[in-house]
Amino acid sequence: MRRSKITVVGSGNVGATAAHWTAVRQLGDVVLFDVVSGMPQGKALDLMEAAPIAGFDCRIKGTNNWEETAGSDVVVLTAGVARRPGMSRDDLVQTNANIVRDVARNAAAYSPGAVLIVVTNPLDAMTYLAQRASGLEPRRVMGMSGVLDATRLRTFVALELGISFEDVTALVLGGHGDQMLPLLRYTYAGGIPVEQLIPPERLSEIANRTRYGGGEIVELLKTGSAYYAPGAAIAEMIEAIVRDRRRILPVAAYLNGEYGERDVYAGVPAIIGNSGIERVIEIALTDSELKSFKASIQAVRKILSTLV
Ligand code: NAI
Ligand code: 2OP
Repeated sequence: MRRSKITVVGSGNVGATAAHWTAVRQLGDVVLFDVVSGMPQGKALDLMEAAPIAGFDCRIKGTNNWEETAGSDVVVLTAGVARRPGMSRDDLVQTNANIVRDVARNAAAYSPGAVLIVVTNPLDAMTYLAQRASGLEPRRVMGMSGVLDATRLRTFVALELGISFEDVTALVLGGHGDQMLPLLRYTYAGGIPVEQLIPPERLSEIANRTRYGGGEIVELLKTGSAYYAPGAAIAEMIEAIVRDRRRILPVAAYLNGEYGERDVYAGVPAIIGNSGIERVIEIALTDSELKSFKASIQAVRKILSTLV
């Protein structure tokens, strides 16, 4: 049986860590691509040399040549510049827009059957640009945001309750910015709504910590942004695609009337399988949740208005 081929564009912190989780989960052969000469080759070789101990059988190759990415099933775009302390996600916009347009065009030219997962920030706007530049169908292009934001929320809830991380499920919608919407009403611990287990004031602090989860790591690291949890979130999405799991995951999806929004990418729950986004799921929101969701989409549109 042919193994899936997964290309990760940008072999910095997030790209290399995504490759690591992907290999450990045996999701397919991995190509690490970067513009820096030698670096993706070195990281790929180093990672593959862990295989006999880590127990995976994937081949991992580093390259500076697009031809080596040809025929990929999934292409992950992490190329760009990461946040520095005091820098918002949105400050990155112009630099990353040019990089993302270029790599999305190349990714689709060499792998026209691929599903693209965009990671570069500001996420929702970059996912929109990647879809436009690649010419791929919107369902084949999605952004990684909600899986990361929800895993942060799940972590904070599990720590608060002193329970297994595995037992917490959560949903975070909207743009991957400070106005994202952690949906506490849809967050459960062992099937029990967390609103029955944690007092409202603590829940509100946890929601805020989730919103600023990326910034909290930037402030601590000082020289870059998060990569372990983002890498794991990317691998979770790759698995849903290459194994055609039809998982319900929160991803940045193209909205064409769903939630009353058109021609924009934003975080919503969707069924993810072999062909990418199989269906966006519309869930009931209260008036105040819908107001917050719309405000976060307005923030995405504001960034987009400077780019298209
Ligand atoms: P990094 O600086 O460690 O790596 C970025 C890599 O992209 C570098 O190796 C650089 O050489 C490469 N690159 C730049 N231009 C390129 C091009 N044209 N073609 C190929 N490679 C190119 O940054 P890190 O930490 O890996 O973050 C990458 C991006 O992901 C940033 O924009 C960051 O903000 C974003 N991010 C998004 C998250 C999300 O939830 N969506 C989570 C974490 C990071
Ligand atoms: C994060 O949420 C920087 O967007 C990135 O960690």
